[in-house]
Amino acid sequence: MLNIALPKGRLGEKVYEMFEKSGFDCPSINEKNRKLIFENPEKQVRFFWVKPSDVSIYVERGAADIGVAGKDILLEYAPDVYELLDLNLGKCHMAVAAKKEMNPDDVKTLRVATKFVNIASDYYTKLGRDIDNIKLNGSIELAPILGLSDVIVDIVETGTTLRENDLEVKTTILPISARLIANKASFRFLNKEIEELTQNMKGQVAQDD
Ligand code: PRP
Repeated sequence: MLNIALPKGRLGEKVYEMFEKSGFDCPSINEKNRKLIFENPEKQVRFFWVKPSDVSIYVERGAADIGVAGKDILLEYAPDVYELLDLNLGKCHMAVAAKKEMNPDDVKTLRVATKFVNIASDYYTKLGRDIDNIKLNGSIELAPILGLSDVIVDIVETGTTLRENDLEVKTTILPISARLIANKASFRFLNKEIEELTQNMKGQVAQDD
């Protein structure tokens, strides 16, 4: 049985379609209910819906053999997993943003609000800058507006949240997309299945123009 952790939400639904096209279909997943686990014994597959930021924990600890996680989570938590494939989905950027009138270079110890304290710390260490790293869990855009921080390090997808809160991108740090990941032991024991699946999904990855 191949155990697959899917990120709950729209991205997970798109990713499920890729698994389905690779022969790992599980019709019960389309039932409208609040179940979290779906199984197709005939195809020897079990899917579960996981909070996106938790997928790599399930995979690292072997509760799932494979899963799909954002590159942001992989960089932030550095789970001990194999990254098999860039799915070119869920694309966005990690960026530094602030109020329009703010010039981050004017501040000595920059106050940075973020969910991604390790990404922020690595980024500013490379620049040789001291920061006061303020960990938040959501609604990060509030921090500079209320004077809690000078800048934020956060994900920007459409840019709407920044725009509607009168903030702007100061620097783009890195591109983010969804990745297929595998538990290291599962990759050895289920190597044929996982390799075949990865190759099949690779053929489905939409390439940019
Ligand atoms: C993410 C991110 C931004 C927003 C960016 O938040 O933290 O707030 O999406 O998307 P946009 O550029 O398309 O507006 P999320 O929805 O995950 O919520 P939270 O971080 O506030 O919990």
